[in-house]
Amino acid sequence: MAVEKTGILNKPKLVTVFGGSGFVGRHVVAALAQRGYRVRVAVRRPTLAPYLQPLGNMGQIQAVQANLRYRWSIDRAVRGADHVINLVGILAEGGSQRFNAIQASGARALAEAARAEGIPLTHISAIGADPQSASAYGRTKAEGEKAVRETLPDAIILRPSIIFGPEDSFFNKFANMARFSPFLPLIGGGKTKFQPVYVGDVAEVVARTVDGTLERGKIYELGGPEVMSFRRCMEEMLEVIDRKRVLLPIPWSAAKIIGSVAGLLPKPPLTRDQVLLLQHDNVVSSEAASEGRTFEGIGIRPTGTDVVLPTYLWRFREQGQFTKKGMA
Ligand SMILES: NC(=O)c1ccc[n+]([C@@H]2O[C@H](COP(=O)([O-])OP(=O)(O)OC[C@H]3O[C@@H](n4cnc5c(N)ncnc54)[C@H](OP(=O)(O)O)[C@@H]3O)[C@@H](O)[C@H]2O)c1
Repeated sequence: MAVEKTGILNKPKLVTVFGGSGFVGRHVVAALAQRGYRVRVAVRRPTLAPYLQPLGNMGQIQAVQANLRYRWSIDRAVRGADHVINLVGILAEGGSQRFNAIQASGARALAEAARAEGIPLTHISAIGADPQSASAYGRTKAEGEKAVRETLPDAIILRPSIIFGPEDSFFNKFANMARFSPFLPLIGGGKTKFQPVYVGDVAEVVARTVDGTLERGKIYELGGPEVMSFRRCMEEMLEVIDRKRVLLPIPWSAAKIIGSVAGLLPKPPLTRDQVLLLQHDNVVSSEAASEGRTFEGIGIRPTGTDVVLPTYLWRFREQGQFTKKGMA
């Protein structure tokens, strides 16, 4: 699609992407750059994100310093932009990185900055955002959505299920574990349902919100083509990496204790809050489906795990690109 030009200089739109250095962020930056937009990536440490530059043409992508915990830095990163995207989120707390500061107050501050600048906002939340959630992640995601709604009723909110892709922290984590461990944990017995969604499809939807082809003021729920249990996710991952491992059910009570202890580590592999989040299915709601606030309603056929997992999990095979039966 032709990129909309703005201003007297007739330049392509300038989009500020908060969280552009993260897993989803780099795919969003690439999707925006491919469309010809100018991209300003707001990151805490721009020097640590040099991998973003090759995603665009010379000078098309610019990294600036910003932290959602400092309002002045948000205002500076938003100034002069035509659209702003908030991809900032954390899965575990550490130091001053608290759920409330990032996902609730930070989301509000960014929405206020967008309102002051008079520009549209695309806000990335998550399926599981729920004011009643037992998990602080889920509760603060809901608070963030509410703050965005109150501040900018026209903002578009996207709620993905678990996202997969080359740099994901779900399939990669368990595939890596399978290299060393004879068993893999099935937290809560592995019955929790997910609707894994491909990062490229999420990035495409984000880019369409900038194109202006999605209805404003709506919450879209993004799930892949298949609802899969935690156990099925592990089974499919093991098939792809061509390894046999025991899938060991861990009861919720034990998982909470493991999460409490592991949560004390600097980069925790699991926290109690994540266990609480896992106690609920993570799938697109029937309301969103019936109202067309899904991929189907947007007109995108989402990509399945069967197509994408082999393209990046092969590195966890004993034989690399080859399976035990031969070439993959
Ligand atoms: N991945 C999933 O499966 C999934 C599923 C549902 C929803 N989501 C949501 O999608 C969004 C992106 O997720 P992701 O997987 O890409 O996460 P990610 O890889 O952890 O990236 C998070 C981004 O947030 C930035 N960030 C963290 N704290 C910040 C702060 N105080 N100020 C400014 N930036 C800060 C990080 O930049 P630094 O380099 O500065 O740390 C990073 O760029 C999040 O809102 C997440 O909750 C993800």
